[in-house]
Amino acid sequence: MSNRMWGGRYESAPAAIMEEINASIGFDQKLWRQDIRGSLAHVAMLAATGIVTKSDAKAIAQGLQSVAKEIESGTFTFSRALEDIHMNVESRLADLIGPPAGRLHTGRSRNDQVALDMRLWVRDTVDELGVQIAELQTALAEKAAQHADAIMPGFTHLQSAQPTTFGHHLLAYVEMLGRDASRFADARKRMNECPLGAAALCGTSFPIDRHMTAKELGFDRPTANSLDSVGDRDFALEALSAASICAMHLSRFAEEIVLWTTPQFGFVKLSDKFTTGSSIMPQKRNPDAAELVRGKTGRVVGALNALLIVMKGLPLTYGKDMQEDKEGVFDALSTLSLCLAATTGMVRDMEPQLETMKAAAGVGYATATDLADWLVRTLKTPFREAHHITGRIVGLASARGVGLEDLSLAEMQGVDPRITRDVFAVLGVEKSVKSRLSYGGTAPANVKKQAQRWLKALAKPKK
Ligand code: ARG
Repeated sequence: MSNRMWGGRYESAPAAIMEEINASIGFDQKLWRQDIRGSLAHVAMLAATGIVTKSDAKAIAQGLQSVAKEIESGTFTFSRALEDIHMNVESRLADLIGPPAGRLHTGRSRNDQVALDMRLWVRDTVDELGVQIAELQTALAEKAAQHADAIMPGFTHLQSAQPTTFGHHLLAYVEMLGRDASRFADARKRMNECPLGAAALCGTSFPIDRHMTAKELGFDRPTANSLDSVGDRDFALEALSAASICAMHLSRFAEEIVLWTTPQFGFVKLSDKFTTGSSIMPQKRNPDAAELVRGKTGRVVGALNALLIVMKGLPLTYGKDMQEDKEGVFDALSTLSLCLAATTGMVRDMEPQLETMKAAAGVGYATATDLADWLVRTLKTPFREAHHITGRIVGLASARGVGLEDLSLAEMQGVDPRITRDVFAVLGVEKSVKSRLSYGGTAPANVKKQAQRWLKALAKPKK
């Protein structure tokens, strides 16, 4: 059988392997809602502009609704011979309503049709991801408010650096996720132009109304250049890029959960809901969900890379290579959605081990900076000199195998005779944390305020 859509010039059917490499219906059937939505908007415009008669338009619209019902209820048979979702829908429409179906494709092409469908899908998905990010932020900010003063070690180089609080640490991720959400929102703004009506690549001679279809489909305006409209996928790349950065953030947090749940750290506990046991080692509780969030990030970043490579050598405008945008975009964005949901679940589930974290916060001379700051403040020592004096005191404590607060005043005065008993007030982890009141600093009073600020902002419904 020669092809129903372009059979005019074609005498024979494609080779089996041609059909296999060419067909996208196996994955682009995911776009059926967007495809039908786009066609409904298109046909309403064709009728409004008098390009098709009102009665044909009515038949087409009703036919499209029937196709939608068939797909929704699972009775629709997708055919690989019909290549993609666009031709599957149109062919079924012809079965259902006969000749008027042939008028639907007036003034458009599969090139603008697929560009539209993908934009709609990515836009819908980006909106859902925005909601999920806000849910995760809320879970984190609630935990942070609850543990604003739970002391834990802050790390640089994964070495104990200064004491911080669990709440402050969680709020760092709330900030990162806030930027992730704003990256998606930016991408959405730029992608919100309608390519429908660019037709194959040069627009059309029919008196179509692109402003009407753009408005109907919720776009801010139609795209301004027809070649660009069918020839770029930067909207998908931007979404993948925002997704990659977000996944990277989730992966870092997942890595921390993996570390924190080891017996060596013991900072948090996850319940049976988010861990698995070992088939051979009865003592094990493996943080599989966290490991998978970390691992799946590779797929998301991989999809971004893959599409950049697909696009980078393509001359304008559409090339069939661009069909390769779909699987990666679908997989990456649904993977991110799964990772966001799993991370939200883990945050709600996790129980910080307050005593263990606090004990760890004092290890490794984490209050050495407080000692140096005391020397600067009280003795007016220049900071560089204070750093040296502190270094020698830390060396002394380390040689004796004790904490800074365990040294005697005499021992400290052996290093610098100006030191007084007051110094002990700053050597405890609580004092250290409370004193860091600079804006954005770790003091529990700050952390409480920041957590409340976020919770208030997150509770507000978005425009
Ligand atoms: N299935 C195609 C894709 O996903 C639709 C566009 C086909 N256009 C064409 N001129 N062959 O890219």
